[in-house]
Amino acid sequence: MERISLWKERIEKRLRELFDPAGPDLLREAMAYYLFQPGKRIRPLFTVAVSSALGGDEEDAITAGCAIEMIHNYSLIHDDLPAMDNDQIRRGFPTCHVKYGEAVAILAGDALLNYAFEVLSDRKNFRTLSGEEIVELIGVIAKKAGSAGMVGGQVLDITGERDLERVNLLKTAALFEACFMSAGVVSKREDLLHDLEEAGRKVGLLFQITDDILDQDGYFELLGEREAKEKAETLYSETLNALEELFGEGGSEIRYLVDRIYRRIT
Ligand code: IPE
Ligand code: IPE
Ligand code: MG
Ligand code: MG
Repeated sequence: MERISLWKERIEKRLRELFDPAGPDLLREAMAYYLFQPGKRIRPLFTVAVSSALGGDEEDAITAGCAIEMIHNYSLIHDDLPAMDNDQIRRGFPTCHVKYGEAVAILAGDALLNYAFEVLSDRKNFRTLSGEEIVELIGVIAKKAGSAGMVGGQVLDITGERDLERVNLLKTAALFEACFMSAGVVSKREDLLHDLEEAGRKVGLLFQITDDILDQDGYFELLGEREAKEKAETLYSETLNALEELFGEGGSEIRYLVDRIYRRIT
């Protein structure tokens, strides 16, 4: 879909514009290492697609999405560490700690998280948002990335929480909720934040279950292939229903992105 490839190009360009952290060269290099690898950029794509469906400024949505992408990449650096998943390869390349050592990888993750909030708190980075709206955006993203969201989910994951849905809601869906809610703030539709949060949650859960099926872990391990696929199908139709209620006939790019997630396993 042409609009989505154009958005993707603008996201790549905006990430490079926004990424200018001060500090030691080695740290900058380690911060940039995951961020500029070929990621799917699915979170910023949802942010701009939802914002656009609601009439928000696309460039501001891209900026908010880029900050979320920085947080996503910090979470991957830490997720790969020996103390967590102890992975050696991500996206076909050595993981951050393999390349830069564990201490620098931890610090690069820390710095990338902080840098995302530097980006968000700089008014010059936004064209249409008031100071108050920026504070709201920061609040939404901080909450969904932190102990009540992604970080909380990572803790449940590594401590062996058996309720997989609870883990996935926090570990993965929370950042998708942040994308949908950020789009609501950018498009000045605070009245929709609750519904957007729910739609983002469904998309995030669908994303995680399809990821589990591809990686043959998580739900795939728990339920077996057939039931995991049935669950994914149910989530897929629930997601489409939620999107139809919110956007009616509009939002075709959002549906396209959801389809792209689901088609990975069909
Ligand atoms: C991987 O996320 C981590 C999960 C939440 C499953 P992505 O699959 O979005 O990673 P990239 O950024 O496209 O590599
Ligand atoms: C990563 O989850 C989720 C976060 C970083 C929050 P996983 O550990 O399941 O994902 P991969 O397989 O490393 O991408
Ligand atoms: Mg993990
Ligand atoms: Mg992992």
